[in-house]
Amino acid sequence: MTVRNRVEVMHGVNLSELGRRDPEHYGGVSFSQLEHRVGEFGRQLGLELRFFHTNHEGEFVERLHRLEGLADGILLNPGAWTHYSWAIHDALELTGLPAVEVHLSDVDAREEWRRISVVRDLCLGAFAGRGVQSYRDGLERLARELQG
Ligand code: DQA
Repeated sequence: MTVRNRVEVMHGVNLSELGRRDPEHYGGVSFSQLEHRVGEFGRQLGLELRFFHTNHEGEFVERLHRLEGLADGILLNPGAWTHYSWAIHDALELTGLPAVEVHLSDVDAREEWRRISVVRDLCLGAFAGRGVQSYRDGLERLARELQG
């Protein structure tokens, strides 16, 4: 049986600035602390994670284009792009890979515009509002999908 455990963890616009963003929504965690914690979750779940972040939408899209043969699944937090980037929607669709959407904050309990996600229809699930735990939930969902 082939092992499918490679997960691309993709962060989009402004996530790099986490330590400076509103702690009421995002908690006190810095971006490197977040990636560190997510890395631990991955190891615990037997997943091989690779991290990617950019503040440039085209780079995010191009990373998705290049994933063929390199990842078995995608965990993505596209930040504000979640709510309007049809370019990311189309590139995610192109990958054909199982994907899960995650957010630190409770996007459904904030401004109206954050309730819309243009990638949700392509994702196995969406986990939000539990801070770093949202990522744990998302990775567990992917692990179930990949490892059966
Ligand atoms: C976010 C929620 C988005 O609405 C916001 O634009 C972000 C972060 C989150 O993780 O809670 O940048 O994706």
